[in-house]
Amino acid sequence: MARIAVVAGDGIGPEVVGQARKVIDAVLPGVEATEYDLGAARYHRTGEVLPESVLDELAGHDAILLGAVGDPTVPPGVLERGLLLKLRFAFDQYVNLRPSRLWSGVAGPLAAVKPGEVDLVVVREGTEGLYAGAGGSLHRDTPAEVATEESLNTRHGVERVIRDAFARARRRERRKVTLVHKTNVLTHAGSLWARAFAAVAAEFPDVTTEYQHVDAAAMFLVTNPSRYDVVVTDNLFGDILTDIAAAVTGGIGLAASGCINPEGRYPSMFEPVHGSAPDIAGRGVADPVAAVLSAALLLDQLGHADAAARVTAAVATELAGRTSGAPLRTEEVGDRLAGHAVA
Ligand code: NAD
Ligand code: IPM
Ligand code: MN
Repeated sequence: MARIAVVAGDGIGPEVVGQARKVIDAVLPGVEATEYDLGAARYHRTGEVLPESVLDELAGHDAILLGAVGDPTVPPGVLERGLLLKLRFAFDQYVNLRPSRLWSGVAGPLAAVKPGEVDLVVVREGTEGLYAGAGGSLHRDTPAEVATEESLNTRHGVERVIRDAFARARRRERRKVTLVHKTNVLTHAGSLWARAFAAVAAEFPDVTTEYQHVDAAAMFLVTNPSRYDVVVTDNLFGDILTDIAAAVTGGIGLAASGCINPEGRYPSMFEPVHGSAPDIAGRGVADPVAAVLSAALLLDQLGHADAAARVTAAVATELAGRTSGAPLRTEEVGDRLAGHAVA
């Protein structure tokens, strides 16, 4: 039976992960789940962010379910870089998979877009780009201060994530991949991405391709999200575009993701796209659907396609029955989802 590690994390993380575990237990009883206490509370208590011994233990699991990390009481970056990005990098989770669809029953903000008309997936590069941490600063806190942040792009890293995007597109109906970058300005990295894209595209003659600059893609995601099937892009562009894609499909509370190491050498990690939402934490009003859909991605990755499909169907039932404006209780939604999933 699958062994998963659970990092509930900060803010609404534990609230939504609790519901995801409920649903996993409902569809796949007997999953062994081990909780790891990481995040702001541990940092304040012990000064630890992610001890090496914990990283080693996490490596021994089949997958990781993560809630959210980050807290206003901890300096920016300490947990985001030291915990979340450390896990993505250490476990070589280079495919950051972020599907977006407009579910029936969900009132998106776009009057012209009907449920079923958006079904896209962003394949966001997960281990390089501006997230690599290269850069520095000089003359801090003086008028002469200079800060640089460098984007790391390797042919190996870019090509492998593009190949993953094409392989996914081939398994989908529309078989289309859009490369999003900023080749008109970022001429070093942009050129590498464009050439790697062209080379991989030649291996997939049955897949249609297009290219868009990231600013245009941000616009089209709002004006015509239906045009996208698979989008492949760099780490930071993918971060921003997936919040937009979430917004146009009913909000960040529904957006799931998988940080995937496709070779299975390391555990993949599944987490909502959203963060710890300090503004609503502790009130029991966070939408757990993003965490529950992330659990479905986890189950699918571990080979439990039937269980994953039951979770997705449970979400479809829940969302179809939602009336807009009705207050939402995290626990109640979790209970209903678990109920639908076993029914
Ligand atoms: P956020 O996603 O936490 O919140 C943005 C807005 O969306 C808030 O108004 C919040 O209330 C709302 N929201 C988020 N999830 C929701 C849910 N499930 N149901 C209903 N509403 C929801 O982003 P932020 O405010 O920019 O960041 C807060 C903290 O989270 C920061 O420390 C940030 O670094 C961290 N963060 C972590 C992750 C992660 O762990 N993967 C992702 C994003 C941000
Ligand atoms: C996300 C988050 C993270 C990211 C942060 C918290 C490091 O915004 O998962 O989208 O930028 O990848
Ligand atoms: Mn983000």
